[in-house]
Amino acid sequence: MISFATDSMSRRAERSSGAASLLWPLLGACLWAAAVVAYKPVIIVHGLFDSSGDFKNLQRFINESHPGTNVTVIDLFDRSSSLRPMWNQVDGFKAAIYPIMQNSAEGVHFICYSQGGLVCRGILSTLPDHNVHSFISLSSPQAGQYGDTDYLKYLFPHFVKSNLYHLCYTAMGQRISICNYWNDPHHRDMYANSSDYLALLNSDRPNPNSTEWKKNFLRINKLVLIGGPDDGVITPWQSSQFGFFDANETVVEMQQQGVYLRDVFGLKTLAARGDLILCSVPDVQHVWWHSNETVFHTCMERWLV
Ligand SMILES: *[C@@H]1O[C@H](CO)[C@@H](O)[C@H](O)[C@H]1NC(C)=O
Ligand SMILES: *[C@@H]1O[C@H](CO)[C@@H](O)[C@H](O)[C@H]1NC(C)=O
Ligand SMILES: *[C@@H]1O[C@H](CO)[C@@H](O)[C@H](O)[C@H]1NC(C)=O
Ligand SMILES: *[C@@H]1O[C@H](CO)[C@@H](O)[C@H](O)[C@H]1NC(C)=O
Ligand SMILES: *[C@@H]1O[C@H](CO)[C@@H](O)[C@H](O)[C@H]1NC(C)=O
Ligand SMILES: *[C@@H]1O[C@H](CO)[C@@H](O)[C@H](O)[C@H]1NC(C)=O
Repeated sequence: MISFATDSMSRRAERSSGAASLLWPLLGACLWAAAVVAYKPVIIVHGLFDSSGDFKNLQRFINESHPGTNVTVIDLFDRSSSLRPMWNQVDGFKAAIYPIMQNSAEGVHFICYSQGGLVCRGILSTLPDHNVHSFISLSSPQAGQYGDTDYLKYLFPHFVKSNLYHLCYTAMGQRISICNYWNDPHHRDMYANSSDYLALLNSDRPNPNSTEWKKNFLRINKLVLIGGPDDGVITPWQSSQFGFFDANETVVEMQQQGVYLRDVFGLKTLAARGDLILCSVPDVQHVWWHSNETVFHTCMERWLV
């Protein structure tokens, strides 16, 4: 319909004269662009203790900025089920997401929030034919988590960050999602030996599949890492951008991390390609990242085309 209108408009433009003849082709071009450029579907993966219902605001922002976008918030592993082991969640989310990818010849975008950002990395690493263009990691502990937060007090009332390794770095601990990416900077050996998830994604212990996982991961076009200093949950907050504590609990930025320098799964490649985007926003607490319109306009909107 719209391309038909465009044709008739350009014919009218040929006939008209003066200033209007300059404007009509322009308008026609805009309509034509709107007709052929459909926005890619967006898939949202939630985090620890939340559920698909928490993304109403984000869905509204996307609908307002990119009308007609097909947005799917995957409704799996809600609330306490989000404590299930990370590989279980990767398998579950992957099964739900794969058909959406197959339905979209032009590809899809991921917005993955908090723990969901690590789930998405697992999917992107292990799915050889994914078609994700922008992978937006929204305040996710990509380099791991080490902090005494309310979540920790609620989950493990008898532990604090300094002794949680006793539980997390056991076979039983590894059956809890948060232990899969618990990264105690004072017990790096135990982390490397025990973490069934993050240590493999980051090749902190030898991973026979790392070459293949890197190739899979690098099918993405853009990696957008969003986080900020007032997050209050992700600790250190720089973990959202692959910074992490050294043995003295001083934060070492991504560019000085081995995982980046050795280009373990493609971070450095993405940076060299110009496809690694860091977006830091102050004054946003953890639970607000997906509902803050400033964050959406500043860090996400332009990557959802
Ligand atoms: C998207 O916006 C349109 C126009 O405001 C509205 O009619 C529609 O219900 C919205 N869809 C969603 C899923 O929010
Ligand atoms: C949106 O995507 C889902 C998953 O691929 C699909 O089932 C649904 O039909 C799509 N909706 C529209 C309006 O295209
Ligand atoms: C980690 O595993 C290696 C190899 O199996 C072993 O030599 C080392 O003692 C382990 N370290 C810890 C802290 O468990
Ligand atoms: C590597 O991939 C193979 C085949 O997909 C799988 O069976 C194996 O569990 C993977 N290894 C790790 C460490 O995940
Ligand atoms: C930690 O601090 C001590 C004393 O200030 C220093 O000797 C050591 O090199 C530091 N370690 C790291 C990993 O920065
Ligand atoms: C949203 O983000 C802006 C920009 O940092 C901040 O000033 C504002 O307080 C935030 N609002 C909420 C509710 O998080």
